[in-house]
Amino acid sequence: MLPAASCLGAWGTISPLMDRSAPISQTDPAAWTGAANAARRVGRRIEHHASIGSTNDRAREVLRQPGSDGLAIVADLQTAGRGRRGRSWLSPPGANLMVSVPLRTRLDPHAAGLLGIAAALAVRDACASVAPEAGLAIRWPNDVVAPDGAKVAGLLLETALEDGWLVEGVIGIGINANWRRAEMPAEIAARATSLTEMVGTSVDRVALLGTLLGALDREITALEAGYSPVARFRALSWLDGRRVELDLGGTLVEGRVGGIGDDGSLLLDGPDGRTAYTVGEVVRVLDAATAGAVA
Ligand code: BTN
Repeated sequence: MLPAASCLGAWGTISPLMDRSAPISQTDPAAWTGAANAARRVGRRIEHHASIGSTNDRAREVLRQPGSDGLAIVADLQTAGRGRRGRSWLSPPGANLMVSVPLRTRLDPHAAGLLGIAAALAVRDACASVAPEAGLAIRWPNDVVAPDGAKVAGLLLETALEDGWLVEGVIGIGINANWRRAEMPAEIAARATSLTEMVGTSVDRVALLGTLLGALDREITALEAGYSPVARFRALSWLDGRRVELDLGGTLVEGRVGGIGDDGSLLLDGPDGRTAYTVGEVVRVLDAATAGAVA
């Protein structure tokens, strides 16, 4: 069974500006099944909730049931959505895409460390299918960002390991689809954007989910077969060359990002040379053009 959340990173805090009792959008629940594909492992079936605490919690629950591997749990509203590092994930009802996928697998310790990288590539590809001209990139470890660093999507990966092998996991994904910046609480609008903001039209969340589940299916199949996602991640890495502050859980380190290691780690060039970090959160970008807090 999965232990308590083992995630890194951050998004925001609950804002009084968010009215969680607002009416839920009228998305026809049956429409979500249009994103399912019985020929695939990930997203064979869709479980839709008009309102739920957290789709990740529901995914952890269903992992105990047989046949739950690859089910996609989607919600129009989360009342207790979780981000990395124990923070809240906010989303107005019916606006965005929030989905969790429970996985039963067997990934060796090296591949286990790359699951977040592979999932981030799938999320980025799905977002780019809607906004191909937007220049979407990935900010280590797994945020999808616009060229100015504004966050479009985030990923909360919770895993259970046995002797270093990853045996169970929940991939939780939040994509800002139809949330206009003008409607976001100020503290979120300062560092986030959405697909609709980039393309100027409303985004079909069911079609986006179908694309996302197809991409996740491909990435996970490739990872299980021993293919590394790192080269493709490197080509999309937003942090490369930037001077950043990395929070190691209370300790802050500063350096210039030298790239991504073969194990998916962040390579940071500091006064004492290059160090590879497998965990941590980039909390600040210090270069003038994109300076500012990111977490
Ligand atoms: C982050 O960037 O901090 C990760 C955000 C992950 C949010 C998603 S929304 C669907 C799933 N359910 C949750 O409670 N969290 C994830």
